[in-house]
Parts: sequence; C-alpha cells; structure tokens
Amino acid sequence: SREDMRFDGRVVIVTGAGAGIGRCYALMFGRLGASVVVNDLGVSTTGQGSSSRAADKVVEEIKGFGGKAVANYDSVEEGEKIVDTAIKSFGRVDVVINNAGILRDKSFMRMSDEDWDLVQRVHVRGSFKVAKAAWPFMIKQKYGRIVNTASAVGLYGNFGQANYSAAKLALVGMSNTLAQEGSRFNIKVNTVAPNAGTRMTATILPPEIVEALKPDFVAPFVGYLANEKNEVSGGVFEVGSGWISRVRWQRSRGVAFPIRNGFSIEQVASKWKEIVDFKSVDYPTNPTESLSMMISSVENVNKPSDKTDDKAIDKTTV
Ligand code: NAI
Repeated sequence: SREDMRFDGRVVIVTGAGAGIGRCYALMFGRLGASVVVNDLGVSTTGQGSSSRAADKVVEEIKGFGGKAVANYDSVEEGEKIVDTAIKSFGRVDVVINNAGILRDKSFMRMSDEDWDLVQRVHVRGSFKVAKAAWPFMIKQKYGRIVNTASAVGLYGNFGQANYSAAKLALVGMSNTLAQEGSRFNIKVNTVAPNAGTRMTATILPPEIVEALKPDFVAPFVGYLANEKNEVSGGVFEVGSGWISRVRWQRSRGVAFPIRNGFSIEQVASKWKEIVDFKSVDYPTNPTESLSMMISSVENVNKPSDKTDDKAIDKTTV
C-alpha cells in the first residue's frame, strides 16, 4: 500500500533540487513525510551564475503543503556542506539523491579542457563528495540509500557529449563499487539513467515529447530505490515517461586462444565472428565472474595444441 512506502523520520538530500527532475524528487519526498534537504546552486544549464531562488522556491512549495524541508545553496563539489545542512537541521542523513548536473556539449574537436573539467567536476566529483560525506553516517547507522544519476548518453555515447558521457558512465562504476562496499551495512546504491522534459532537454527534444516526458514519470521509481523496502543494489535502470527497465552487461562467450606460444593477429582475425557472437552469453556482475573465463584460458597454457580449445570454455560457461 502507499502507506508502506513512506519516508517518515527519514532525511533525504536531493542535489540540484531547484529545477527539473530534482525538484520533482524533492516534492515527492516532502509529500511522503521525509525531511528534505533541497540543494541547488541555481546555475544555468551550462553551469554559469548562482542563485538561492531555485532552492528557496522548492522549500516554500514543500512547506506549503505541510512538509519539512531546508534549502542548501552550495555546489555539490562541497558535498560536506550539504551533508552538514542535513545533520544540523534534521540530525541524520538516510538518503542521497545525486541529481545535480550541467551540460557543455561540443564536438570533440572543439571541446576545451574547461568543457571537460567542469562537467567531470559537477557530475563525478560532486556525486563523490556528497556520497563521501554521507557515507560515515550511513555506515554508523547501518542504513543508507544512494541513487546516482547517469544517462543513456553515458551508456551508449552521443555526438557532442564526450565529456558528459564519460562523467555519466563514471557514476555507474562508482555506484557498483559502493554497492559492494555498502552491502554489509544495508546501504543500497543504484544508478538511474532518466529521460525527462526539462530545461536541459528542451533545446534538443520537440515540445510535445518534452511534455510527455514529465519528471513526474521518473520520480516514483527513484522513490522506490530510495525506500527502506528496496532490496536492490548495484542496479542500473533506464527510466522515462513511465517506462522502467533494468540494464546489465552482456558478454559473449568469447574465444580462448592457445597461449603457450602466443597467438597472432591473423588468428584473432580468423576468429572474429566467434569473438563477437552473442548466441551464447553470460552476465558478469563482479570481477570474480568477469575473471572466470580468463582463468580457464590460463589453464590453456599447458596445452600443446595451437588450435582454440573449446573444452576449456565449456567448463566455466554459466
Ligand atoms: P536541470 O538543468 O533542469 O536541473 C539541474 C539542476 O542542478 C539545476 O537546478 C542546477 O542549478 C543544479 N546544479 C547544477 N550544477 C550544480 C552544482 N554544482 N551544485 C548544485 N546544484 C547544481 O536538469 P535535469 O534535466 O533536471 O537533470 C537532472 C539530472 O538528470 C542531471 O544529472 C542530468 O545530467 C540527468 N539527466 C537528465 C536527462 C533529461 O532527460 N532531462 C537525461 C539524462 C540524464
């Protein structure tokens, strides 16, 4: 029931909560009983300027319907100050939604160091700093929920977004490691790749699509991940217009070459079709599962044959 998925007594930090998707998250958590830290630096889409208005407006909205909220105007690069606001105002931190973001789209040819660095700083370093400051509290209370924000652009790449896609996929890596480090402490860390009509996408998408891709159709899923009842950790999800899907790595069975005497580029070429054949696959979820095929390939070293050893592969295929 609805009642079961509330956030009473929970303290939720939402970064970049003054606009777009983050604003929608903050309002949702406020309605569901959480004490919300509404963080926003109040910058433009490209990260320029700063203003307290964005965060203030959302805090007023939450208080308007009887919710609990406090504003914070620091950049996510100063994550410790944001967490400090949570501790000083509400005494704890249970949930971190790393959502703040900017764009500096340029073709790679024209991308400057600044375009690159600024995007890494806000998305990667910012998400790191907020999570890092909240982490000791989560470890101590043996409870935490962190949702990091990637993008389909990070998962698949996109013209003109080398900086942004690198930053977004970096967050998947960070999330998956934190999911493992947090598992003993009931800290669940997940990544969402949202799609929503906001000022960020208004220049790219046609108006009717922007209208259909309401942030409201992303928020319930992030609410689910942030809830006490959520058991999932280390997941990557694509979410938009009410459609929700999980993404995972798929790996082809691959080819194990005999490594006793080395092998040639020509041998690689001759097996190309098999290397990229996804007829038989597995879905590694950790480095041990990733390594298993290579370990079996190492066993090949003692075999005299210069032909590919299919038996060694069969042994470990899941
Ligand atoms: P938005 O531009 O509407 O809102 C982003 C908010 O973050 C703004 O209020 C801005 O002031 C704030 N912000 C920017 N830099 C900050 C900093 N250093 N410290 C604190 N606050 C800062 O963007 P939107 O569309 O709501 O995006 C939210 C997140 O979702 C971003 O991480 C974005 O990259 C990601 N995303 C959005 C997609 C979309 O379709 N809108 C697609 C894929 C990812």
